[in-house]
Amino acid sequence: MLLLGIESSCDETSAAVVSDGRFLLANVVASQAEIHERYGGVVPEVASRQQLAAIIPVIASAMEQANVNRHDLSGIAATYGPGLAGSLLVGLTAAKALALAWNLPFIGINHLEAHIYANWIRQAESSTAASPGDQPADPALDWREGDPRFPALCLVISGAHTELVLMHRHGSYKLLGRTRDDAAGEAFDKVARILGLGYPGGPAIERTAAKLRNMRPRYHLPRAWLRGTYDFSFSGLKTAVLHMVQGADPGYHSTRASSSQHWRAGAEAASKGGLSITDLAAAFQESVVDVLATKTRQAAEAYSVAHVLLAGGVAANRALRARIERELQPLGIPLSYPPVEFCTDNAAMIAAAAYFHFRLGEQHRLDLDVQPNLSLPFAG
Ligand code: KG4
Ligand code: ZN
Repeated sequence: MLLLGIESSCDETSAAVVSDGRFLLANVVASQAEIHERYGGVVPEVASRQQLAAIIPVIASAMEQANVNRHDLSGIAATYGPGLAGSLLVGLTAAKALALAWNLPFIGINHLEAHIYANWIRQAESSTAASPGDQPADPALDWREGDPRFPALCLVISGAHTELVLMHRHGSYKLLGRTRDDAAGEAFDKVARILGLGYPGGPAIERTAAKLRNMRPRYHLPRAWLRGTYDFSFSGLKTAVLHMVQGADPGYHSTRASSSQHWRAGAEAASKGGLSITDLAAAFQESVVDVLATKTRQAAEAYSVAHVLLAGGVAANRALRARIERELQPLGIPLSYPPVEFCTDNAAMIAAAAYFHFRLGEQHRLDLDVQPNLSLPFAG
């Protein structure tokens, strides 16, 4: 089953062609990161205009790279939430229009679910892509060699979400814990801004922290353990970094400065007070990684899962991957994470998730609207 996937929830415009929810034929991504870098974050009005300019060329180029035409496709999928309304609308409308024009089934995909399904993606070999493969009798347990196994524990860590989720079969999600304030990616972005490291913050903090050869930062930042729960909290950590910068230069008032001045002011205050930005970035990353890895190991053990999956932009972080791998090794539980390019927003993951929904007999009508606040469909 060949599907066209479309993703436009934030500042990336992407289209992909994927076979049987796993085998990648093409994935094209147009990123606006350079444009938003100037503002230190995504500006929604700018993002939706850029989406509009990119969407048709990106779809055309994915179809061309995959060497397929509309007659080869079995369906079309697009993200319908969560995300920025104006951005979501562009990809969703394009997908619905194509489904109508080409008379193909259409399905709207939950962006968070798609991040999880990035763990099913692999490069297509010509034989696997061409042959339909054996379809298991129960579509809810559709498994092929190389797929993650159920029950799986998913750590969903993106710019707006931090959730520990248990998955017993395709399309079934049980929430174990979530952040009570900032998401992990949001904390990376905010702290990068305080330290003057730029946008997006995650890769910038990771690069800066990696400069610390001995990996032992000279500062120790707090961890919110929230014991007895699988919940997280990162806003206190962000505030601790801010207080250190403010302490370094009593003349520094973050609230008085406008956003772009604030950004430079923080970096200047830190260096004025003799703070090491490298050590601060490393101490911050260590604190986030410590909490995420420890809670993931505890949940994996408590629920006797067969596999742990990392999903979302923060899953690109190498320090986090390595630490979770070390935590799980004594338990003999395998860890999966997508290649870096499939951790951040892409359409291949949309097409992958869509396959498993189509297999369950689901599809949407063409009046499906965007849902900017959509969450994972948790069972009680
Ligand atoms: O999943 P994603 O691309 O978009 C959302 O759906 O939110 O995640 C973006 C988030 C940003 O906060 C970004 O700073 C973070 O993922 N991120 C990282 C890394 N790469 C991206 N965080 C830590 N380390 C990274 N290498
Ligand atoms: Zn995302």
